[in-house]
Amino acid sequence: MKLLSYITIITVGFILIIVNQTDVTNYNTVQDKVLQESIKRGNDVYADFCITCHLDSGEGVKNTFPPLANSDYLKTNRESSIKGLKYGLKGKITVNGKVYNSYMAPQGLGNDEIADVMNYINHSWGNTYGEIVTEEEVAKIKK
Ligand code: HEC
Repeated sequence: MKLLSYITIITVGFILIIVNQTDVTNYNTVQDKVLQESIKRGNDVYADFCITCHLDSGEGVKNTFPPLANSDYLKTNRESSIKGLKYGLKGKITVNGKVYNSYMAPQGLGNDEIADVMNYINHSWGNTYGEIVTEEEVAKIKK
């Protein structure tokens, strides 16, 4: 009788583990799809609003417009980057060891467009920066 209970507990345990893993896999797939769609929309936003200064491959313009590709600023300043896109970015910042002391005006984007373009620049040109940015996250960031 005791042996049978052990077997039952172990079997139920295994089933729970398997069910759980399937859930995690589905969740990740859905998240990936949401991110991929957002990146696609972000590509259009980038082409319309950012490419003139930060250029095609996010390389920027030497001493004038900082790079986004491989930018340590973008990688480690998620909130300031979003804030910059929402309200403008002014004053001294250091990007990959170079100081920029300039101004980027807000581009008049909606919170959804800012989320999309953030996802695009965080996951382009070899960048793999962080979790998906959502419209809700952008909405919460104040001046
Ligand atoms: C008119 C030129 C211009 C446009 C257009 C522009 N930027 Fe910028 N961007 C700048 C400048 C200049 C800075 C540096 C500001 C400073 O020195 O404080 C900057 C800084 C940044 C930074 C932080 C520094 C870095 O390199 O990681 C990010 C992120 C960024 N821009 C993203 C964007 C995105 C996304 C768009 C399009 C929605 C955009 N920018 C449009 C000129 C521009």
